Amino acid sequence: MALICPHCRGALQPVGTAYRCALDHSFDVAKEGYLSLLHGRQKGDGRGDSKAMILARDRVHRAGVFAPLVAALAALPLTPPPHSVLELGCGEGFFLGHLARTPGIATSYGLDLSVDAVKLAAKARQASLILRADLLQPLPFADASLDLVVSIFAPRPLAEIRRVLAPGGHALFVHPHAGHWQELRAFVPLAGIGAEKPGATDLTGFTLVTERNVTEKRPLTRALLADLVEMSPSIHRLTREGGDWRSLLPETLEATLAVRVALYRKG
Ligand SMILES: C[S@@+](CC[C@H](N)C(=O)[O-])C[C@H]1O[C@@H](n2cnc3c(N)ncnc32)[C@H](O)[C@@H]1O
Repeated sequence: MALICPHCRGALQPVGTAYRCALDHSFDVAKEGYLSLLHGRQKGDGRGDSKAMILARDRVHRAGVFAPLVAALAALPLTPPPHSVLELGCGEGFFLGHLARTPGIATSYGLDLSVDAVKLAAKARQASLILRADLLQPLPFADASLDLVVSIFAPRPLAEIRRVLAPGGHALFVHPHAGHWQELRAFVPLAGIGAEKPGATDLTGFTLVTERNVTEKRPLTRALLADLVEMSPSIHRLTREGGDWRSLLPETLEATLAVRVALYRKG
């Protein structure tokens, strides 16, 4: 078992409906099926993406909007094949479902801070262990215990990813390009795609295996356009400003999915 206790860093073992370490720190599996490793002041429901954001993303994924990205991920040269995978910021578990079906994967974990995300992910991804945890804290995994760590549109704690990856293990990152949904930006003032945060690019100890752009026009209905806005971080500002951004949306739009996929090997 790769999981470790966030208090004492000892191995966690499943005991009934909880996970426990040798020092008897105990973490319950929620009735919805996810394991919460939040403790003390980290607890509280209002963190990570909101329920409305999670449900909007779920509708977008069910409509297949990100199908070109799914295909690109499936075509990545993962050798040797990984046996375990962790998705950081897994949301409601759409990509985790695909990753868990990668040939050779026996164990899969999804981790997210949002209570609404982990509830949905635990229901949809019963073959995976879904964790509620903060990925900006030390990851609850033993050193060199995982073969593949993935971050898709989510934070990337590089030092921790390096620590938990086995030698030769892979890190897979997906982030948006400047042109991502640019046609939609002509209608609704979405935040620009920011430059990398300082320190986010310290890839010491990783070797780039492959990097590719996935750029494809997607036909989108008004409802899906609204969901793309609703699931974006800009929704917080748009809601605060109180304007009727939905009325700005066209009936249909061909908009460009533009993301970069980068695969690294540890060592
Ligand atoms: C843009 S969403 C991406 C979700 C999923 N990877 C996808 O692409 O469908 C980012 C996710 O990261 C989660 N997240 C943000 N900050 C986090 C943190 N500090 N710890 C854990 N999860 C976090 C959010 O709750 C959200 O589900």
